[in-house]
Amino acid sequence: MREHSDVHDTSADGRDHPGSAVPDGGGPFAGGWADTGLRPAPLTGAAYAAKRRSAVSERFPGERIVVPSGGAKVRSNDFDYAFRPHSAFVHLTAEQGSEAVPDSVLVFEPTGSGHAVTLFTRPRSPRDGGPRGTEFHSDRRHGEFWVGRRRTLRETSDALGVETASRDALDRALREDVPTRVLRGVDAHLDAQLATDPRADAELRTFLSELRLFKDDWETGQLRAAVEYTVAGFHDVAGELPYASGLARGERWIEGTFNRRARLGGNGLGFDTIAAAGAHACVLHWMRNDGPVREGDLLLLDAGVEADSFYTADITRTLPVGGRFSDVQRRVYDLVFAAQSAGIAALRPGARYSDFHEAAMRVIGQGLDAWGLRPYGSTAATPEADLYRRYTVCGTGHMLGLDCHDCAAARSTTYLDGVLEPGHVLTVEPGLYFQPDDLTVPEELRGIGVRIEDDFLITADGAQCLSAGLPRAADEVEHWLAALR
Ligand code: GLY
Ligand code: MN
Repeated sequence: MREHSDVHDTSADGRDHPGSAVPDGGGPFAGGWADTGLRPAPLTGAAYAAKRRSAVSERFPGERIVVPSGGAKVRSNDFDYAFRPHSAFVHLTAEQGSEAVPDSVLVFEPTGSGHAVTLFTRPRSPRDGGPRGTEFHSDRRHGEFWVGRRRTLRETSDALGVETASRDALDRALREDVPTRVLRGVDAHLDAQLATDPRADAELRTFLSELRLFKDDWETGQLRAAVEYTVAGFHDVAGELPYASGLARGERWIEGTFNRRARLGGNGLGFDTIAAAGAHACVLHWMRNDGPVREGDLLLLDAGVEADSFYTADITRTLPVGGRFSDVQRRVYDLVFAAQSAGIAALRPGARYSDFHEAAMRVIGQGLDAWGLRPYGSTAATPEADLYRRYTVCGTGHMLGLDCHDCAAARSTTYLDGVLEPGHVLTVEPGLYFQPDDLTVPEELRGIGVRIEDDFLITADGAQCLSAGLPRAADEVEHWLAALR
């Protein structure tokens, strides 16, 4: 497979850097610009991404493979959401946070010996015209006057270790009739342009998702960093519970505190922060965060910092806002804690993926049985099992990586019905959720929701908790909160 050659790169107007020292008349933007070209060092993840591209090349010999980054999404009128490239694209390029350019496309063009890989992307905005005209100052979506400096094509090539070309040249590059697979649903222009076999495209999607099941050393380093920032965010929030409890919309304050840490340490959030106080904790993805955080209630904080590399953590703690669990809160917390501990103990290479879920649910089931809430041992075909699901609802974890729910297109044989292997990173997050209007439970339980979630790397002989830096047991949580007061 051919990769990165030295000199190749020009903007669509034929100039690598838009410098132009001599004013030449013709409007306020003509001339008078210094050459600001850089020679960036390769990104630390670039060599790992090259190996992944080799895997793609080996899997699809003789075929053109097209992996788009996706584009900006409109938020309202002429403002877009912050751009976040598709995870498959990131995995194959090691592109980083704010450098990512919307509408980039990675193309594997088959050659005799493998593939020539080119990243088609948007070059810098020429400041004084040329074929791309007045983009610099008049295009609020792409013009550098509006959105800031991009890398030149050469700089991108140096940083990522891959050949680059202008996105403007893509249509021409795809014109030749070659068997092609595209990652569909990411770039609408390409979806419309490329008439490919949907089954072949689906195979590509699955392959790219499964390629992410095993994290290499660099990826686990990125996940550790994401966890570290996330742990810092939880400390920030824990220290602010007394202040938040005095606000009408304390959940918003909690969200803002965590999000500030996420932006400071990483690219941002891996998913919108769930700051759920009181009965809001019974809503699995409570992201409205518009409620109060009352002394005496629990706060369920489910949040993750996405590092600049786009790898995300995903951690949940359920904290007593006033610093101490009530008896009934603690009873629920301890049961979830015991379930999580059982799930964690089931993590090892060779174990079935479903083992940790079943281990956690066995403990939950026994606990609910002891409380007289359901007959333990029922099977899914019975009404009792539905009752039991009523308090737990979802699975006990998921793969974690570039997506919070990573590898979602993997086949069940390699994921849900597969076995754990060294290099897998996943969450263990059992929960109990007693809806405030659930008449099947005693009144004292209604409106209590507890989830505890940690992140684990499967190793050669077991599992390593990446988020061990956060207190987990009820006593530890109380000591932690007391120390912060
Ligand atoms: N952290 C949200 C979830 O795992 O669904
Ligand atoms: Mn999760």
